Amino acid sequence: HTPMMRQYLTLKADVPDTVLFYRMGDFYELFFDDARRVAALLDLTLTHRGQSAGEPIPMAGVPYHAAEGYLARLVKMGESVAICEQIGDPATSKGPVERQVVRIVTPGTLTDEALLEDKRDNLLAAIAQGKSGWGLAWAELASGRFRAMELEDGEALAAELARLAPAELLYPEDARLPGMLADARGRRPRPIWHFAAESAERALCKQFGVHDLSGFGLAGHPLAIGAAGALLAYLNDTQRAALPHLSGIGMERREDGLLLDAIARRNLELDSSMSGERRHSLLGVLDRSVTSLGARELRRWLHRPLRNREVLLARQEAIGALIDTRAFDGLRDLLRETADVERILARIALRSARPRDLSALRQTLGQLPGLCGTLSALNRHALNDVQDQLKPLPEVHHLLSTAIAEPPATLLRDGGVIAEGYDAELDELRTLSVNADAFLLDLERRERERTGIATLKVAYNRVHGFYIELSRTQADKAPADYIRRQTLKGAERYITPELKAYEDKVLSARERALSREKLLYEGLIDTLIAHHAGIARVATGIAGLDVLCTLTERAVTLDWCRPVLSDAPGIEIRGGRHPVVEATLDGPFIANDADLSPETSLLLITGPNMGGKSTFMRQTALIVLLAHIGGHVPASAARIGPIDRIFTRIGASDDLATGRSTFMVEMTETANILHNATAQSLVLMDEIGRGTSTFDG
Ligand SMILES: Nc1ncnc2c1ncn2[C@@H]1O[C@H](COP(=O)(O)OP(=O)(O)O)[C@@H](O)[C@H]1O
Ligand SMILES: [Mg+2]
Repeated sequence: HTPMMRQYLTLKADVPDTVLFYRMGDFYELFFDDARRVAALLDLTLTHRGQSAGEPIPMAGVPYHAAEGYLARLVKMGESVAICEQIGDPATSKGPVERQVVRIVTPGTLTDEALLEDKRDNLLAAIAQGKSGWGLAWAELASGRFRAMELEDGEALAAELARLAPAELLYPEDARLPGMLADARGRRPRPIWHFAAESAERALCKQFGVHDLSGFGLAGHPLAIGAAGALLAYLNDTQRAALPHLSGIGMERREDGLLLDAIARRNLELDSSMSGERRHSLLGVLDRSVTSLGARELRRWLHRPLRNREVLLARQEAIGALIDTRAFDGLRDLLRETADVERILARIALRSARPRDLSALRQTLGQLPGLCGTLSALNRHALNDVQDQLKPLPEVHHLLSTAIAEPPATLLRDGGVIAEGYDAELDELRTLSVNADAFLLDLERRERERTGIATLKVAYNRVHGFYIELSRTQADKAPADYIRRQTLKGAERYITPELKAYEDKVLSARERALSREKLLYEGLIDTLIAHHAGIARVATGIAGLDVLCTLTERAVTLDWCRPVLSDAPGIEIRGGRHPVVEATLDGPFIANDADLSPETSLLLITGPNMGGKSTFMRQTALIVLLAHIGGHVPASAARIGPIDRIFTRIGASDDLATGRSTFMVEMTETANILHNATAQSLVLMDEIGRGTSTFDG
């Protein structure tokens, strides 16, 4: 092999399961199997370069300036890509230029704005298996959100993974995955020792800068710790950079939420309808967020309804206050002017923030006095928390206002990012390159006066730089401090110490201005990282306020009511409606009551085909669910007692993929319900036993 190919193979050996983008000049090249596979996936031309074992080496390439697009497509297809850049200087290096894998882009670790969806979390998850069940950890690198949980069995694990829908799932290579995870998206086996609780705990403590994990509620949860540690190890492997925004982890308990398994999530059409449409789902009706932060938060709320009454009441109170004061329209106008602070902050932490990220952050911080002022004028206790979160950060705002140009250049390497007046040295360097002409004219005038030579010229050329030119006949009048630089046929060219000094300044001024800008920018990033906690608080505030405003707007527009969350068991709904069916119906929706109590804990619904039976059952579940995100519900009145879980057995279509007949599916799901339902579970069974296949029949 050629030295270059040897270098390639060494780098590739480090990232065997990953496509290697090998930088060569203006291209990223792929070789061998990578080239064959990716050429097919991306429809690239497959060529050859050199030979290996007598065979031509397959090669394919993408131009570096268009790499983002190809990268995005590959990652969408579930591939991971290692980006290898030229680190050394081609001019000075013997043999191939030094190269290094600088980052690995994987489906679950995206942070680049172009690769991310605005309204969805992009999660990386890890699971650890133990005798007592499973540990689960998940994180979003693009926000720094990091959570863990322990689950008693594979079924509970599958339900949580259905909620989180991670883009990538890490598991110990020896784990026996529960059947339903066998074809999970982005599965990636990892070395078993990454999941060992002890070393995982050490790595996590180091990451968070703590002595133990008890502050995060993780102590005594070795499986959660193991999963979290494996996840962190993977992030360190792929990012090869500090992750200061991963500053803590939260422990979630499954029983704190209203439980929904994967089947119920699908049947209730939370974020997409059975036919796969988002529009005809609960989220489609609900999501009128004006920020991406809010849209993602709303989706989280919807997928994890809570049982904690205190939290739910606080949300209800806040919505109540926003309705009473009619403030939500004005607040939403202000929120519209904010940017995706959470993801910008993550890019700041990873030092990949672009100039426009910082100007967007500045613009957002500029909205805080208005938001806070509006909230404080409402003077409602229920809005205090979010008002605190949105407290202005005048120091950071001032820094960004003075430091970043308006608007800044798109790329730092072009210059024009740091504002004038922020740094005296930068301003001087910039003035230098702009004012060269004036200086030269001035010098020319002074030198003519000094020497008495009216034809003396000061000029510049690219090869020799600045010079003072005298005609041959006048050369003997040159003052003593003129140093000969070049002799021409009819003229002599000189340089003086003053001109030399000036030349050094000007010629490198642009270059130095650029590196000065880079330095200042890095310093700015450092300062922003130091303010991480404050900016993260603002992101939380924007997300929370946007969701509250959205729920308020929906409640007002769609005429929903505030449900009473009571401790007495039972469900009483007056004038309940199905939010999605109602929104799609041309005619009026007929509202219905529903009453369940310890005395009447079962309702049997009969009626003609197309009578609205299925709709009625689902609307009851959706009303219960909406009440558990703290929102208003589509009814004229509702009282909801304690509920721990919603089960559904709806729809009868053969699950052909797994070769089970409808009857078999129904019986399996029913058995699951019978095993797991408690006195506080809401169980919906629609036409059970309808579908028996010929065989079972
Ligand atoms: N309460 C209602 N008011 C108005 N239209 C309704 C109502 N419930 C259902 N519908 C309409 O009737 C259709 C059939 O409802 P569905 O619940 O599937 O009936 P069933 O399960 O009794 O066969 C729905 O698609 C919807 O368009
Ligand atoms: Mg039906």
